[in-house]
Order: sequence, then structure tokens, then C-alpha cells
Amino acid sequence: MRKKVIAGNWKMNKLPNEAIDFITELAPLVKDSKNEVIICVPYTDLFYSLLHTQDTNIKVGAQNMHFEEKGAYTGEVSGEMLKSIGVEYVIIGHSERRAYYGETDETVNKKLKKAHALGLKPIVCVGESLEQREDGSAKEVVTTQTKLALEGLKKDEVEKTIIAYEPIWAIGTGKTATKEDANETIKWIREKIEEIYGKDVSESVIIQYGGSVKSSNAKDLFEMSDIDGGLVGGASLDAQEFAKIVNYK
Ligand code: 13P
Repeated sequence: MRKKVIAGNWKMNKLPNEAIDFITELAPLVKDSKNEVIICVPYTDLFYSLLHTQDTNIKVGAQNMHFEEKGAYTGEVSGEMLKSIGVEYVIIGHSERRAYYGETDETVNKKLKKAHALGLKPIVCVGESLEQREDGSAKEVVTTQTKLALEGLKKDEVEKTIIAYEPIWAIGTGKTATKEDANETIKWIREKIEEIYGKDVSESVIIQYGGSVKSSNAKDLFEMSDIDGGLVGGASLDAQEFAKIVNYK
């Protein structure tokens, strides 16, 4: 039985004092949840978030990392740096990074390999654009992104990778994929993983849905057979709303 994993992606939001206030409000609301609760925060909030989540069941993640250990990469942060302060999760290949910062399937793959080598748990994002959805290539696009992201990983690494299926047209738009649609695409991704890595891997790998998840649609989405939780943007910025999503039952 796969666990539900609910991760908030704060994107470029919240100063450290706001992060601390959020955690203080969220912690008692989700303390009894059997779902995995993660907040992926800006780099400047990581250390404060780690300190303030110490005695809670809230896990902390970053939103990106470099694949090199160190060097002349102005403005970048390495996986080693994240690991050194106790970060557990890292989002890799979010569509905003692919669209605005030149992230490619190749860099996503390098980052995934590096994250696993360091024992960081990656949440890798895949998803089609509206144009790709309309021209009928959505499944092919997510299959290619998934295969290229996971290329060269060992079976146990694939098993430990969280995949977030985030259709780009549903991000920040208020448009959610229907639960049937999201489930069908996630099932499809799972089938492709089975073809390459076998049934044990495909049945245990966590695949989330992301794109305008909120407390009013979380239950419908997360109760589908193949949707193992969500990667939540806007609705993860409010502790009460995010807690309702975590405690969706
Ligand atoms: P929204 O929930 O704001 O649509 O964002 C989704 C997302 O990009 C999470 O990574």
C-alpha cells in the first residue's frame, strides 16, 4: 500500500519569520496525519524551517539544486550544501525551472543522480503544456520526460524517486485536471515505469498530482487509485488551507 505524500511548493514566497509562523500554525493541525507532509521552501527559509520542524512530523525540502558539488556557478546551491544542513527532499525539474531557467531533461537527470548519490529524496516534475495536450501528444511528452529523468538510475533509486505529474496548463490557473484524467495519465506513467523497471518498482513508486490542488478538490483527486498525493503551490501558502489538504479525509 503506497503512502500519500502531500508536499507544498512555496515557490518564491515567504520570509523566514513568515515561514516560522506558518510552521507554528501548521504543526498542531497535521500532527496526527498518517500522510507524509513536506514543505519545499526558498533557500533562505531552509535553515529556519529545519529548526522549527524538529519536533514535528513536517519534513523540509528545497526547490532546486545544482548537480555539481561546488565551483564557479554564481547563484547556485549544491546538493551537498542542502544535505549539510539536514534538508531531506528536493524538487527537481519543476516546469517553471524548465521554462524560465533552461532546465533540460539532461540536467534533470544529472540532478536526480546526484540527489540519490547524496541520499536526498527527489521530487521530479513532469507535465505537458496546453498546446501538447491539445495536439494529443501529452502522454508521449510525459513518458519521454519520465524516461529521460530516470535514465541510468538503479531500481532502488527509481523506487525512492517521487514523481509529480503537473500539467503545465493547470499550474496557478485554477484549472485542475479532472480526477479521471489525472489518474489516467499517472497510471500511464506507472505502466511505463513497469515496462522498464518491473512491477515491484512501479507499484511502490509515489506519483503525485500537481496543478491547482486545493482543499475543495484534494479528496477527489487523492482517493483515485494511482494518485499518491499532491504537489501543492498556491494553496500551500496558507497553513489552515494546507492542513485541510493534508487531512483531506
Ligand atoms: P498551483 O497549486 O499554484 O497550481 O501550483 C502547482 C505547482 O506548480 C506545484 O509545484
